Amino acid sequence: MRQHVNPLSKNFKEIESIPSLSEMFGDPKLNLHLDIGCAAGDFLFDLALVNTSWNYLGIEIREKLVKTAKLKMRERDTKNLYFVFGNANNILNDVQSKFFIEHIKSISFNFPDPWFKKRHYKRRVVQPEFINFLSYSLKKGSLIFIKTDVKDLFDYMDCTISNNLNFKKIDKEDFNYSESFNPNKVKTNREKYVIVNQLDIFERIYQKI
Ligand SMILES: C[S@@+](CC[C@H](N)C(=O)[O-])C[C@H]1O[C@@H](n2cnc3c(N)ncnc32)[C@H](O)[C@@H]1O
Repeated sequence: MRQHVNPLSKNFKEIESIPSLSEMFGDPKLNLHLDIGCAAGDFLFDLALVNTSWNYLGIEIREKLVKTAKLKMRERDTKNLYFVFGNANNILNDVQSKFFIEHIKSISFNFPDPWFKKRHYKRRVVQPEFINFLSYSLKKGSLIFIKTDVKDLFDYMDCTISNNLNFKKIDKEDFNYSESFNPNKVKTNREKYVIVNQLDIFERIYQKI
């Protein structure tokens, strides 16, 4: 399977229509977490099975991975999990997404593609325009979690989010994970790989103020 797709390709301009919250989830009133770049959803399956007081929505740009996740959904009767295929930037920016953005409690960017070459930075999922969009679309108090093993990408994302005055950094030491979307600190697949290979992990939490 291709490891990377160009998110700026015109193939991703058209986006799939997103069902209403009550069509996506058994209980649409639960707290909503959005995982951007969820791959085949293993992390979200692990979370959704245990944390039944949260709804989890995953967006992934590689269609095959979303198909795999949706097949797995059929095998397990999970009512608090949903997957959407496409470029997260385009999906969230679309007017039809307004209804669920307003309900988001937190967003995770776990180990996003680093796009190392400078001329490819514009393919990174965290972009100033996107963060600006989130800064006026998310509710006050909503959280953004970023995590990566690439220091340069961390600095870039941290600078992009910190430059937006509507977000403040939260000290990880003071953060109460037990009330978050991930109370048991479940690891993503990339995170497990990074831990096994003893690589560094750079992470930060931001809150919409
Ligand atoms: C390095 S993988 C990390 C996967 C997973 N989050 C983890 O931690 O194991 C990055 C994922 O983000 C997806 N991705 C990249 N750009 C995206 C975008 N603009 N919208 C949605 N998904 C994207 C990639 O296809 C890939 O599955």
